[in-house]
Amino acid sequence: EQSERDSLFIVSDFANKHFQHNLHQHEQGGIGMSYLKQRGLSANTIKKFELGYSVDEWTDLTDTALKAGYQQKYLEATGLTIVKEDGKKYDRFRGRVMFPIHNVSGRVVGFGARTLKTNDKKSPKYLNSPESDIYHKSNVLYGLFQAKQALRMQDMCYMVEGYLDVLSLHQGGIENVVASSGTSLTEGQIKLIGRYTQNITVLYDGDAAGIKASLRGIDLILENGLNVDVVTFPEGEDPDSYIQKVGDTAFKAYIKEHAQDFISFKTSLYAAETKGSPVKKAEAIREIVASIAKVPDAIKRTVFFRSCSLIFDIDEQVLISEYNKMQLQER
Ligand code: GTP
Ligand code: MN
Ligand code: MN
Ligand code: MN
Ligand code: MN
Repeated sequence: EQSERDSLFIVSDFANKHFQHNLHQHEQGGIGMSYLKQRGLSANTIKKFELGYSVDEWTDLTDTALKAGYQQKYLEATGLTIVKEDGKKYDRFRGRVMFPIHNVSGRVVGFGARTLKTNDKKSPKYLNSPESDIYHKSNVLYGLFQAKQALRMQDMCYMVEGYLDVLSLHQGGIENVVASSGTSLTEGQIKLIGRYTQNITVLYDGDAAGIKASLRGIDLILENGLNVDVVTFPEGEDPDSYIQKVGDTAFKAYIKEHAQDFISFKTSLYAAETKGSPVKKAEAIREIVASIAKVPDAIKRTVFFRSCSLIFDIDEQVLISEYNKMQLQER
């Protein structure tokens, strides 16, 4: 007997095929295709990630699906169709480039969808499928299905913010890349990566939001026992814009050269403010000790205390006693 969840998978798969069909065959598909080309994506990448297009009509998908025999309740449960109080139905995704989101076994569980309009304040840049019985956002990573093998091979995972970051890096030959699209990084997502590798390198956008998200991500990754490095990008650049700008080879050289462990990342972040001020320097050290405190492994903690002590030229025992104080306060 077919379960409720099976029906959601099946209707999502139908929608995914429909959106791809639109992109390649529908008279409106060319608009979506030229957008993707203009973003620098190749036919190969478009195919591999099953990108599609939702045409700019109210009931294109809903009508097609109902006519083909799919039940309205499943279209509603996956959020593909929205039903108003008066019973009128319309498609959630209209006039958008569609990014299907796969679970680890490759089944479509939801969609991310980007508007083609560059500065329309009325509609959000990205729309996502709502949570459903098959789509639990905190346990899904965009690109993981396509990255799995590379994660094991490279024994490392690049974490980026957005769909386009995943696509551009993958296209540039960096296939061990995933995004926590639609949410900020969660513990469930880190545990998922942990099945493939213990090493994460965070590549967030070069803006204040990206830095803030990196700091939060670092602590969460450390708490879960994984190792974390960080690469920062010039102000205003994200991994996608930067690789499209400088090219694959220069991008790879950049991330190799600019990868920092979390201690140097936090140090350089605070370095500007700490210059000359002993009070600020003490604050920075305390911030770093707080991150080290999240590391469950005692040997790793010892190594990090040594590194911090060298960078700040401060006695290791002072750091450790600060750490011990923090442990006492937590109780
Ligand atoms: P591009 O402009 O297409 O390059 O997108 P981006 O991925 O660089 O966007 P940004 O850095 O602003 O956001 C990163 C990620 O956050 C996106 O890929 C989305 O997953 C999500 N996001 C951004 N804007 C929105 C929004 O308006 N609504 C929702 N739900 N998510 C968003
Ligand atoms: Mn469930
Ligand atoms: Mn951003
Ligand atoms: Mn971005
Ligand atoms: Mn971007």
